[in-house]
Amino acid sequence: MWETMRTKRLYINTMGCQMNVYDSDQIRNRLASLGYVPVDAPEGADLIIVNTCAIRDKAEQKAFSFLGRLAPLKTVKPDLIIGIGGCVAQQEGRKILSRMPYVDLVFGTHAIARLPRTIERISATRCRVVDVALSEGVEAEDFVSGPLVTSDVSAFVTIMRGCDNYCTYCVVPYVRGRESSRAPDAILDEIRHLVNHGVREVTLLGQNVNSYGLKEGLPGFDQLLEQVNRVEGLARIRFTTSHPKDLSDALMHAFGRLEKLCPHIHLPVQSGSDVVLKRMNRRYSSGQYLEKVARLRQIRPEMAITSDIIVGFPGESEQDFAATLELIRQVRFDSLFAFIYSDRPNAPAVRFDGKIAEAVKKERLQRVLAFQERITAQKHQAMIGDVHLVLVDGPSKHPSSTADSPPSDGQSEPGQWAGRTGGNKIVHFAGEGQAGAPNQILTGRMMPIMIERAMAHSLWGRPVPDPRASAVEGEPLCCIKPAWPV
Ligand code: SAH
Ligand code: SF4
Ligand code: F3S
Repeated sequence: MWETMRTKRLYINTMGCQMNVYDSDQIRNRLASLGYVPVDAPEGADLIIVNTCAIRDKAEQKAFSFLGRLAPLKTVKPDLIIGIGGCVAQQEGRKILSRMPYVDLVFGTHAIARLPRTIERISATRCRVVDVALSEGVEAEDFVSGPLVTSDVSAFVTIMRGCDNYCTYCVVPYVRGRESSRAPDAILDEIRHLVNHGVREVTLLGQNVNSYGLKEGLPGFDQLLEQVNRVEGLARIRFTTSHPKDLSDALMHAFGRLEKLCPHIHLPVQSGSDVVLKRMNRRYSSGQYLEKVARLRQIRPEMAITSDIIVGFPGESEQDFAATLELIRQVRFDSLFAFIYSDRPNAPAVRFDGKIAEAVKKERLQRVLAFQERITAQKHQAMIGDVHLVLVDGPSKHPSSTADSPPSDGQSEPGQWAGRTGGNKIVHFAGEGQAGAPNQILTGRMMPIMIERAMAHSLWGRPVPDPRASAVEGEPLCCIKPAWPV
């Protein structure tokens, strides 16, 4: 009895996207029932889980190199259990067991609900397990894992899993299975639960949230947002990711109607060339993308728009690449994630002609990044003097300078705080609660901040009195000048 209830140490290394972050939280919660307590280092742990990402070759290599470093720990502690989960586990399955003899468990992206039973079995029998079956729909038990414990202001909530879009470069449909959506009640219950535990902002997650519920005949994504908007105590709603082809008028109008919905959309465009977009199977043209951007800005003028770009997709000519730069010039994104195209074993583009030389891909990446950096800098400069409502995440992470001399990016000192604007820009500021007052004093509050200085990746500001005092009390408002057409 004592043996089964003994506290055991669980170390999880989470790689990849927010889906994996959410899944790792689920794993922690579920394994708590077996007495596993999270620890910060793999040394001395009883169970190590590596939650992996397969989106690009580099991500996959990172997973294997971390796993490689775990082998000596098994020599020191033979009863250590090592499990590999996530997208690389789903992709490679059984092969991992022969490649890495010290791995005890390979579990796929749909195996999390079964994990406690699997771990119990491994503890009892020391057998090696591969559990990579992909199921069709979403079972209620796939998500509900009991009270989620979090001290964060902001939390992720997965509303759907899988993807049916089959972009030709992408591994996700093969490692996350078919798209399926969670029932709205389960999502709302989870959000209320998080809010009761102090969460003020939720980010709804899915590979393409715009097609939420369509397959299942559930209320559409805009209707789900409307329900989430009514959750009492919740201050802000975000979501990611949106596929441009499925960005409906109803959803665009939600940005004009729902006061908790932050004026930010991550809308990956991938390329500005119609030829490349077609070969990527994205099913929209650059013209259609630009139209949607214009419409969004008409509905919500302060809308921040961010995106993903892939450079060096097979067959991408200099002219195609120029079209991408031209699209960036026209949209003027708030920020961009740019990636070098990487062949994925399951994705069709691996067999496409016209592979681009590594040096050319790197050079294009640098050009995109430099171009966007200038745009971001100009946008940050233009914010100086504006007042933004900032939801305070907590004390700034990298202490170093003083309020009089604003920090360089990501740096500040005790008494300095960090939060985000509705448009998802990071803002540092010096606030009350410094001299000996508890650090949590501003965490979770909505503060009006006057932007005073722009840095490359963040902003520096100063708290100002709110013209509408209620916002300081934590009213669910995203920014000070909303003037939204309805
Ligand atoms: N579902 C999301 C994105 C998931 S992956 C969407 O549709 O937008 C995140 C980003 O990784 C993608 O937007 C794409 O820009 C990039 N990506 C995906 N596969 C890639 C590959 N094989 N090589 C390089 N970048 C890739
Ligand atoms: Fe991948 Fe495309 Fe699905 Fe996004 S929409 S996960 S890029 S297949
Ligand atoms: Fe990576 Fe899997 Fe996410 S491949 S990006 S962890 S869905």
